Amino acid sequence: MQNKMERISIKDAKNKIGETVKLAGWVDVRRDHGKLIFVDLRDASAKVQMVVTPDKKEIHKTVETIRPEWVIEIEGKVNKRPEKMINLDLLLGEIEIEVEKINILNSAKTPPFEIETDGYDVDEEIRLKYRYLDLRRERLQKNLRVRHEAIKFIRDYLSSQNFIEVETPLLTKSTPEGARDFVVPSRLQPGKFYALPQAPQQYKQLLMASGIEKYFQIAKCLRDEDTRGDRQPEFTQLDLEMSFVEKEDILKLNEQLIIDLVKKIMPSKKIQAMPFPRLSYKEAMEKYDTDRPDLRDNKNDSDMLAFCWIIDFPMFKKTDKGEWTFTHNPFSASRKEDQQKLLNKKDIDKIIAEQYDLILNGFEIGGGSIRNHQSKLLKSTLEIIGLSDKNIKENFNHMLEAFEYGAPPHGGIAFGIDRFIAILQNEPNIREVIAFPKTGDARDLMMSAPSEISKEQLKELGLEIKKKK
Ligand code: AMO
Repeated sequence: MQNKMERISIKDAKNKIGETVKLAGWVDVRRDHGKLIFVDLRDASAKVQMVVTPDKKEIHKTVETIRPEWVIEIEGKVNKRPEKMINLDLLLGEIEIEVEKINILNSAKTPPFEIETDGYDVDEEIRLKYRYLDLRRERLQKNLRVRHEAIKFIRDYLSSQNFIEVETPLLTKSTPEGARDFVVPSRLQPGKFYALPQAPQQYKQLLMASGIEKYFQIAKCLRDEDTRGDRQPEFTQLDLEMSFVEKEDILKLNEQLIIDLVKKIMPSKKIQAMPFPRLSYKEAMEKYDTDRPDLRDNKNDSDMLAFCWIIDFPMFKKTDKGEWTFTHNPFSASRKEDQQKLLNKKDIDKIIAEQYDLILNGFEIGGGSIRNHQSKLLKSTLEIIGLSDKNIKENFNHMLEAFEYGAPPHGGIAFGIDRFIAILQNEPNIREVIAFPKTGDARDLMMSAPSEISKEQLKELGLEIKKKK
């Protein structure tokens, strides 16, 4: 008995000139020239032109009925295209498939928008409602693939330097990063709520107390804040923490990681200055009036990447109400020379944090710090921002206690993966590099989330919804 032919990827068909192959995918476009019908077939790997000649009557008839986005499977001979017909727009322009068998696997309604364009001019609400169709376009396929490559590079790079990836909980307690928490009601503990993490900050520090020494995680972070082009309620960080290090060690390692990543994944990009320039917060504000300066010499050069570190941030700032708050998160350490000020709560405005942000073309793509690893320093910080003893005990006791059982000095950083990929891909906002992003008002239009829940669920959770007056 003849073996069943195995399907191959379209991209692999180019090495099979003269052979018969089996392909499957989506109809991209169909061009009906009467006798000859051309169909471009697309799969996840590439696109190829197929031709149906009039002598294949049955196939010809079937192909007359197919429309874009139908799913088909074919067998056909791989022919080299004549030199003058080579079409460089198509990925596999040098070959053509002469269809010998066809099988329709599924038909498709006419999509609500065109898929073969870049999609920028399509109403975004419609794109998001039909995101699974929107993701079929080449641009978005490419964005997801580049994102995958970058994350794979990061995982391999850090693993080779003895970091381990550790997953930390999503159902947890509030960890302040300057936004509101998303909360999840508990069924088993009625009236109590988990908070979804704004970042894995406390867990990664506790992992340092556990003796992990080199941690990273590709981590989902959740922040209930107003969404904008470079912000989503749910986003991804490369989160990283190390023990027995100083600021310099962290900057050096991460700078090299970024440089190597760009060279490997995006060889067409140019990094304007290496090592990355460093500016103190004060210098940046005086010179550029922002702590996120865009240092590109030529802002029209889409291949230029201008990184810079901003360092020496003030540790505290005043809120609108005139109270002290932290500038990043409460876990950052002060410079060694400012430790007495922190402990004595004196000259608070002059305390400089061991904090650093990484800026790329005017966007903050990362931030981190050396942490307080001694209880008294963290406690003093929490007191300066006005937390009561009760609040400190309820919310931070586990950290203060952990630091009393031999926590090593440690520090780390987190990068916004979505922001970094969006800039690498020259995308105007991070939604273009996230598979299923949310709208500006935090809705998932495809899934219709958030949504109401049933009376039974509310009862089980001990919740009652107050009607708005
Ligand atoms: P931070 O809050 O600065 O630090 O976050 C680190 C990086 O995450 C990205 N980012 C976001 N990206 C998309 N949407 C958002 N809503 C969003 N918020 C932040 C930014 C930012 O630079 N735990 C600390 C890190 C540390 O100290 O190690 C933290 O989360 O690119």
